Order: sequence, then structure tokens, then C-alpha cells
Amino acid sequence: MSNESLANLLKEERRFAPSSELAAQANVTAEAYERAEADRLGFWAEQARRLTWSTEPTETLDWSNPPFAKWFADGRLNVAYNCVDRHVENGLGDRVALHFEGEPGDSRSLTYAELQREVCKAANALTELGVRAGDRVAVYMPMIPETVVAMLACARIGAPHSVVFGGFSADALATRIQDADARVVITADGGYRRGEPGALKPAVDEALTRPGTENVRHVLVVRRTGQETGWTEGRDIWWHELVERQSDRHTPEAFEAEHPLFILYTSGTTGKPKGILHTSGGYLTQVAYTHHAVFDLKPESDVYWCTADVGWVTGHSYIVYGPLANGATQVLYEGTPNTPHQGRWWEIVQKYGVTILYTAPTAIRACMKWGDDIPAKYDLSSLRILGSVGEPINPEAWVWYRKHIGGDRVPVVDTWWQTETGAMMISPLPGVTETKPGSAQVPLPGIRATVVDDDANEVPHGSGGYLVLTEPWPSMLRTIWGDDQRYRDTYWSRFEGKYFAGDGAKKDEDGDIWLLGRVDDVMLVSGHNISTTEVESALVSHPKVAEAAVVGATDAQTTQAICAFVILRGTATEGEDLTEELRAHVARTLGPIAKPRRILAVAELPKTRSGKIMRRLLRDVAENRTLGDVTTLTDSSVMDLIQSRLPAASSED
Ligand code: WT7
Repeated sequence: MSNESLANLLKEERRFAPSSELAAQANVTAEAYERAEADRLGFWAEQARRLTWSTEPTETLDWSNPPFAKWFADGRLNVAYNCVDRHVENGLGDRVALHFEGEPGDSRSLTYAELQREVCKAANALTELGVRAGDRVAVYMPMIPETVVAMLACARIGAPHSVVFGGFSADALATRIQDADARVVITADGGYRRGEPGALKPAVDEALTRPGTENVRHVLVVRRTGQETGWTEGRDIWWHELVERQSDRHTPEAFEAEHPLFILYTSGTTGKPKGILHTSGGYLTQVAYTHHAVFDLKPESDVYWCTADVGWVTGHSYIVYGPLANGATQVLYEGTPNTPHQGRWWEIVQKYGVTILYTAPTAIRACMKWGDDIPAKYDLSSLRILGSVGEPINPEAWVWYRKHIGGDRVPVVDTWWQTETGAMMISPLPGVTETKPGSAQVPLPGIRATVVDDDANEVPHGSGGYLVLTEPWPSMLRTIWGDDQRYRDTYWSRFEGKYFAGDGAKKDEDGDIWLLGRVDDVMLVSGHNISTTEVESALVSHPKVAEAAVVGATDAQTTQAICAFVILRGTATEGEDLTEELRAHVARTLGPIAKPRRILAVAELPKTRSGKIMRRLLRDVAENRTLGDVTTLTDSSVMDLIQSRLPAASSED
């Protein structure tokens, strides 16, 4: 990326130092960076000792056949034992592991001792169904405790799970079952979302009519909603019939550190979904360490809540494996943030005294749009750490989160990572880092990341380029399931010897890292590289804009022309005045080159189910093309609305 274009980029001067109380009692201090810098592998070997191994590893990293890493290869452990049994053995059986809150308002708490019994029964049930170590199990579930139990039961018997998000279609489920060649599917009749029972089992039934799914011998069905469900005798089994009659004792077997723990599919922008493979010892080490360090977890007193769905990697690493390995008490919520009212999340924080909250920028912006008065009605004084993940968080949303949820006293940690990285990689540490709104800032101790230009040279401070990871890390993906060559090509071939994350980033004058979104989303305007993230941040910093999505549309003169889709706040109305006001505002904050050519007010933006804006579709609209694949959209009617509203180019530069 050219440097001159970056000279104009967003200036964010606000700084927030850690409070002295937090700094004084923080789990991790600045010393960790020095320790890891001096001896990176020694540092990770120390972190591996957070786990209980049946055979302690003597090797840390085997990188003799890059990019195929082995971490702690001669160690053996059982992941489920580490997440459950060892806490019970340490006298913590009565500690609550999960406070489950159903969307209709039902709730139930499970202690570690209860969780242990449930996981043992489920492990025995899977064994009775013929599942053996190495067999794949697909999990297609709502956000209920049985989902966590099912994942841990798979881990316990060494059967890699492939969790498929419950909002995905039968098609998406079928391709994932085929690719992983799953033997059993664990599902539910349905789950509650937006005040309604939503069925899951029919999608499983449909998926299993597709060729390539014949190896699925059984479907294990949890009864959640009680809705009418089709039944295939001999194949389908009720969870409450099979699991409940099992013994609640089960001896965990130790597996090699590199034993596969799970496959999780990412759709990416093109091609067939990639089955990201994660293994056991290195993965568990890094999720446990980062959960301890970044959230400053005090397991005896904190109540932690991650609002992600378990169907995403955030749910795997920071609902199931990290928090449970650390013996945390956490909230698990089934539904949406605005059911039955827009204060539901804050009501839950108040009810359980949540101290650590981890959520996504898209949710924060939705709450901003609903209004400051909603969280103000609840007692949020228990909160002490706020986290963000999933996309770049614009400074306005970051500051709103800190102020209106964190009472202007709680630190916000913006954590950058990916399904592929398995665990957090770049993030402030709440007791150490002076935070900057909108920046993930620094690689965590033991992680090496930087920003390079097209020729793989590290860029100087104040410049932009591509984010790369320069050394292997314990929770890295091991390959793409069944496709080693695609693993090499996708991640390790763009820059020799470095992992290419696919994200654009810049380093500021202090060397802190700012993520700029996927490189496919960077626009080229009259020879300048401009990031969609920064134009969006500039638009959202205007008081009349609640949300913005920006794309570059092909343009004969300027290569690409910036086209912005905005959701207006409350009473603001679209019109030529507002368009000009917003263009001028962007010109002031970023420079005239970043002024959107067109600005269109819309009611909704097209998003994937994990909340990422589908810019590809907006580009289709901006270029008057027929729409590409809309199957991963949360709500495909959004696109019809946007298309029908598209005006001709409003003004020219
Ligand atoms: C992509 C990975 C990591 C769990 C959820 C998403 C974007 C993620 C941040 C952040 C800027 C972020 C990147 C990344 N992303 N976190 N804090 N700041 N961008 O997992 O679906 O694999 O997506 O999400 O573009 O590459 P994922």
C-alpha cells in the first residue's frame, strides 16, 4: 500500500491507561513480554504447565516440516479431563461452570461436578453408538448446555467434533457432513430465537438425504422446544433416552498432544468451505493462557460471559475450552439481545453479576442504535473487563462500549484472531497496555506478528500493508482437513516462511497495529489504497450515522469509486444536504480522496450470521450486477430492499 495514502488516515488521539487497582492485581504484567521475547519456546513450555498432562511433554515445537507444526508432540493429555474432572478433583466440584439462560426465560446452573457427570454419560452414550477415537461427529445445536456437554464428550473419547452453526441451512450442513465424513450427528428438535422455537432437526433430515452422508449411522436428538419432529427408526435416538441411562462414570483416555480435537469450517470469500483442523495440547495451552491473560480471569470470583455462538470459533475457544480449562464460572445465553426487549443482555449482566463480557462490534453498534438509555436502566457495576472480537471496532463504538457499558472505568480489549489462529493473537493486556480506541495494538506474549509490504519487507512505523505472523504458535491450525496443498497455498505461499492472515493492517507511530479489514476489501482510488474500515469509522463518527458499510465500485476514471451504505440514527433523514454533510465530514477526518462518491441510506445491511458485512454483495449492487451467492446471509430480503433503493450516482468529484 502506498504511504502517501496513509498520511491522511484516521487520527485517533484518545488514550486510556489501566487503573492502578487493575494494574496492581493483574494476572499478567509487562514482564511476560520480556520473558517471551527472551525465550519464546520456553515461555510456551511454561504455559503448557497450566494443563494437567498424563505424560508431560519434553519437546515444545517441531517445525522440521513447515508449515506443518507439532507442539508438545511427546506429551499426552485428555482435553475434557482438563476442562472438567481436574477441577472436581481439586475440590471445586460445587463451583458453577455454566449459568444457562434460555431465551424464553428458563434458567439452570450446572456445577463442575454436574458437568462431569453429564460429560461422562454422553461419552458412554457415544461409545455405545460405536463412536471411536478418530471418528468425526457433527454437532448442529442451539446454545444450550447439552451442546457444551456434547463437545466435551467428543473430546473425551478422542472423536473430533465438527460444529455447524445452528443457523446454517441443510445444504451447508450436508457439505460439512460430507467433507468430514461424519459418523454421528448430534442435534436438537430446535432452539429458541427471537421469541420463537426454530426447528433444527428437519435440516438434519434433509442433509442426510444427500449423497456422501451415508456414513452417518445415528442422529442423537436433544429435546429442547418439544416441537413435532420427523423420526427415522433405528437411526434417530433421543438424547434423554440414551444418555440418561448411562453410567455417570467414565475413565478418560490420554491422547497425543497432536490428536485432532475439532474441525471447524470457515466459508471465506470464495470456493468450498475450508475445514480448519485444530489439535489438542497446543490449542488448549493457548486458549487457556490467553483467557487467563487477556481477561485477567480470577476464577474464584469472576462471572464471565461470551455472547458468541458455540458454532463459531469464539464459542469453541472462549466458551468451551479456554474458560473451562481455567475453571471459570460463565453465563451461556440461548437467544438474541433484543428478545423480549432491547435490555435483555444488560438484565442478564445484572442478574448474574457478570464481571467480564466478550462480544462483537456489530452487537455493540446495534446497542448504540437502540439508545444509551437502555443499558442505563440496569446495574452494570459488576463489570470489570470488556472484550471485542470479530471485525475491526470503530473508535466510536469502542468509546461508547467503554462509557455506556463500562461506566467509563472498565478497560476494553480489542482482540484480533481468526478461526485459523485458534486463539487470540493481538490484543492489549488490561493491566498493562495503555489502550487506543480502535486498535488491537500488540501481539500477545509469545506471538510474533508484523505488517509487511508487497515484497515482504516489514513496513516502517506509520505505514500500512499486510498482517503476517512470523513464527508458529501453539493453537495454530494444523492443516485444512483433507487438503494439505490448499493449506500451504492459502496461508503460507504469499510470503515465504510467513503466515498470511489475509488482513490489511497499519502500524502507527508507536508501532501499534490497527486492523483494516480483509485485503479483498481494500479499495484503490486514483492510485491510493483506502481501507473500507477507515471510511466506515469516519462515517460512524458523524452523529447522524449509526452504521456504515463501504465498498469500491469499478470506475473508469478512478479505478474504484467509494460507495457508502449507511444506517441513519433516530430522526436523521436522507437528502442532498445530509449526503453533502457526510461527504464533507469524511473529507475532514480522512482527506478528500476518501470522500464517498455515493452515499445511500438503508434500513439494514447484509450480514453473515456471525455479523460480518457482506461487502461482496454490496459491490454487486454498486456495480449493478446480479447478486452472487446469498445463502449465508442472515436475512436475504435485505438485499432486495437495498437494490430497490439504489439511486443513480448522486454527485461527482
Ligand atoms: C477475521 C477472522 C476471531 C474470532 C471471530 C472471527 C476479522 C477478527 C478482529 C479484530 C479486526 C478482526 C479479521 C480476521 N477480525 N477479530 N479484533 N479486529 N478484525 O473469526 O470468522 O475466522 O474471522 O475476522 O478480518 O481475519 P473468523
